[in-house]
Amino acid sequence: MTTRAIMKNIVFPLSALFIGLFSNITVMAKTVSVSSPDNKITISVNDDNQPNYQVMFNDEPVITPSALGMLFKNAHGFSDGFKITAVSKATVDSTWQLPWGERKNVVDNHNELLLTFTTDRDSANQYKVRFRAFNDGIGFRYEVPKQNGLTQVEITNELTEFSLANAKESTAWWIPARGWNRYEYVYNTTDVESVDRAHTPFTFKLPSGTHVSIHEAALIDYAAMTINQKRPGTLKADLTPWSDGSLVKTKTNFKSPWRTIQISKDAVGLLNSNLILNLNEPNKLGDVSWVEPGKYVGIWWGMHINATTWGSGEKHGATTSETMRYMDFAAEHGFDGVLVEGWNIGWDGEWFSNGDVFNFSKPYDDFDIAKVSQYGAKKGVRLIGHHETSGSVTNYRNQMSDAYALYQKHGVSQVKTGYVADGGNIKRIDENGIVKKEWHDGQFMVNEYLHSITEAAKHKISINTHEPIKATGLRRTYPNWIAREGARGQEFNAWGTPPNPPEHTAILPFTRLLAGPMDFTPGIFDMSFNGLGSESNRPQTTLAKQLALYVVLYSPIQMAADLPKNYQANMPAFQFIKDVPTDWHESIAIAGEVGDFVAFARQERDGDDWYVGSLTDENARKITLKLDFLEKGKNYQAQIYRDGDKAEWINNPYDLIIENKHVNFTDTITLPLATSGGAAIRFKALD
Ligand code: NOJ
Ligand code: CA
Repeated sequence: MTTRAIMKNIVFPLSALFIGLFSNITVMAKTVSVSSPDNKITISVNDDNQPNYQVMFNDEPVITPSALGMLFKNAHGFSDGFKITAVSKATVDSTWQLPWGERKNVVDNHNELLLTFTTDRDSANQYKVRFRAFNDGIGFRYEVPKQNGLTQVEITNELTEFSLANAKESTAWWIPARGWNRYEYVYNTTDVESVDRAHTPFTFKLPSGTHVSIHEAALIDYAAMTINQKRPGTLKADLTPWSDGSLVKTKTNFKSPWRTIQISKDAVGLLNSNLILNLNEPNKLGDVSWVEPGKYVGIWWGMHINATTWGSGEKHGATTSETMRYMDFAAEHGFDGVLVEGWNIGWDGEWFSNGDVFNFSKPYDDFDIAKVSQYGAKKGVRLIGHHETSGSVTNYRNQMSDAYALYQKHGVSQVKTGYVADGGNIKRIDENGIVKKEWHDGQFMVNEYLHSITEAAKHKISINTHEPIKATGLRRTYPNWIAREGARGQEFNAWGTPPNPPEHTAILPFTRLLAGPMDFTPGIFDMSFNGLGSESNRPQTTLAKQLALYVVLYSPIQMAADLPKNYQANMPAFQFIKDVPTDWHESIAIAGEVGDFVAFARQERDGDDWYVGSLTDENARKITLKLDFLEKGKNYQAQIYRDGDKAEWINNPYDLIIENKHVNFTDTITLPLATSGGAAIRFKALD
């Protein structure tokens, strides 16, 4: 897989600065630095008093001196008094491949600095911090070795800070952490000083125009990091606690997740970063040819708009005949999966936040799982499974292996899971049979979500997690973690208060999607189910913008979320959803400002066609895109789906123009985007 890899590992003893390594450390404070391969980003680490780091980009301070360290219960921590006692550097320049993804080849080019911090006390006296500087940002992680006085560990405080010089003059796009609605909030746009406790990715723009996003990579066996404004301009790591108040329970050796800071001179640069993936471990699952990107339809939207029900009875959505009808539709239009929710016992009555009612092996009487999967198999359409746990994770874990085995037996290769329960209200039963309530993003659930992934892998099943733990790039290590939700998706347009505002999908790419693919479920064609206007629950977009979402919001699985009859009523527009791939050879963000507009160009995997998706917030605008991403010397037919001249999202969302043009890489294209409008283009290669 690695086409070129240069690995240098130079250890600098720095002995001149040392009087002794493990005793009587009286070295003077010093600063050690590492820069990105292009020299634009520099991390400097200093051990004067509290170990700290700072980050410069193009000579501008992005992170001013900020604390490093962590504290433990009943053991010495890593804080002031530690000195840098060993320094080693390495350089990596390699290319690796994603089995599926927004691009095939990923370049990992970074300089590494591994620092050992030591103090002269006799127990717990050594910590390592590994820094990596890439051209698109930096990452660092703590590595805590086994040592005297440190075996079982409970972290009581991670001291990591992210300090900004100009918090008041910097703009942030953020959602609150530790809220009842998990990650499902409308984004706030405020100055950084007005942020309290926020989830990551936490994206902000400095007065200079530099864009920065703080997040984490490889969140394994640790609590999620949220960020908390401790003093004005100082954002501190705030780990989501267990129900007993502890933050992380582990044992030495352990490594923290990477703390990541993506940095770019403009907004678009953030979208083209591979930093999070590069900081994850390679695929651990071996052959993953059974993990298949694709497009699906499903028995889903009808429940959200109250046309059908998850529960049994007259309006039951998940019936054998309805599933077969969806399978016919899927087969006719080239979709490979049909999601069926509400097929198993448990949905009658109070299922929200009450997952003990669910049985994951018992279908309702009017759903014949064997019959529908055999029917689908004949048509080349798979049943897509669904497990709503409603946050009762012990109930789910007890049934998990049987539940995945049942699905595997019926040819199901993808399961959507759900953890609908208020934040802090995940129900588990501990070793003593006592009920405990946990957060979705505490260490317990971080492990629980990953457990479902590794168990599913044993059955060659891919998982699409709803109400998930945030993505931190683990899809590289576990490629069957095919997608997840983790932000307000389309469902909020059915019943959310308020529905997603027009700017929502112009913020998501620069925030949530920096973490990884999102199962947003685009493609609602009928926006009039409650009437048009700005007050009703509906997608607050034009029709063209619904099409644009397929290219803008990356996911290897995309749903055509609306009811088949609404697609049948508009086949010309539906053609774009039929054509658009979900697996890409390359993706390039070509224009955008956070919260205003965005445009992506993506080239299909194993093919020559390119696709463009572009969308805007509540403001209409014209954007002109250079087509220089197209292959030189090739001609393309641009099949353009754009807002009509009279389109506007409130009362005229359906005005859509479909037109064809011949173009090549020397051309530009101007797209008139209506209020909350968009454009979707297929560039079909002609020769
Ligand atoms: C919330 C999920 O996001 C949605 O897609 C699903 O239909 C419901 N939970 C029920 O499981
Ligand atoms: Ca949800």
